[in-house]
Amino acid sequence: MRILGIETSCDETGIAIYDEEQGIMSHRLYSQIAVHADYGGVVPELASRDHVRKTIPLIKEVLAEANLTPEDLDGVAYTAGPGLVGALLVGCSIGRSLAYGWNLPAVPVHHMEGHLLAPMLEDDVPEFPFVALLVSGGHTMLVRVDGIGKYELLGESVDDAAGEAFDKTAKLLGLDYPGGPVLSKMAENGTPKRFRFPRPMTDRPGLDFSFSGLKTFAANTIAKEDSSDQTKADIAYAFQEAVVDTLAIKCRRALEQCELKRLVIAGGVSANRSLREKLDKVTQKLGGQVYYPRPEFCTDNGAMIAYAGMQRLKSGVSADLTFKATPRWPL
Ligand code: KG4
Ligand code: ZN
Repeated sequence: MRILGIETSCDETGIAIYDEEQGIMSHRLYSQIAVHADYGGVVPELASRDHVRKTIPLIKEVLAEANLTPEDLDGVAYTAGPGLVGALLVGCSIGRSLAYGWNLPAVPVHHMEGHLLAPMLEDDVPEFPFVALLVSGGHTMLVRVDGIGKYELLGESVDDAAGEAFDKTAKLLGLDYPGGPVLSKMAENGTPKRFRFPRPMTDRPGLDFSFSGLKTFAANTIAKEDSSDQTKADIAYAFQEAVVDTLAIKCRRALEQCELKRLVIAGGVSANRSLREKLDKVTQKLGGQVYYPRPEFCTDNGAMIAYAGMQRLKSGVSADLTFKATPRWPL
């Protein structure tokens, strides 16, 4: 089975072809960061317009690179939600129309299921069951995964997502959008122990998260301190350490609660080196292992959508001629 995957849920146009035997045959990613940088965040209307411009040319490119024609495909998968409605509609309408024109099944994919299955694109594939920590710009969730489509939500953020907290704190530090990776780089020069941020909701039972307080804590700290590069790096260090510690505490709790040893992390924030190192240690102590996608597949991409679409199609899911974007959609 060979699937074309289309991802347009936010500010990245990701297109890929996944083949059951050969794996990823080709993939392209176009990031709109430059389009939104001046505005300090994603402007939904500009995102939709840019997806309109990029999606078809990138589909042509991946087909050409893989040396394939539409007849060589078995289905077209597209992200149907959650995400920005206008951006989603671009991928949904192009994906659905191409599938109709090419006489192929169309497969709507849940964006977070794409992230959750992204580690399956690597050589060292986690076996079911496992616990997954999904950490992106829009979501922070702990999920028990017993198989494809067998997902039990264990906990989630009651306010900001981890990536959102990274981006908002980065903005307070005067960094450009999306500041998460830049803040993380800055933290490398930070002095340990100069500041200590709280570890929200770790002092009570449960697996939910809350990150909006950290941003406020950062704002108050920034207001009180000088604005030297070293102070900024020290604040970035303390903020990142608090997020990573909080995520690690809840991951350990989730693994113990589920009596599992395998942990998967995915979504943009799973590219964070400090988080990977910390979770490596946590799982090693439990005699288990952590699995994560290569950095380019941590953030949004078409390969994870093609892969999730293939799994969905194998289990008999495909869409009729109507299509809809689902901006809010539980996993
Ligand atoms: O999964 P993703 O590409 O898009 C969503 O579905 O939201 O995640 C993007 C988020 C952004 O908030 C970005 O700042 C964050 O992931 N991110 C990082 C790092 N790389 C990306 N946050 C912390 N450290 C990183 N290295
Ligand atoms: Zn995402």
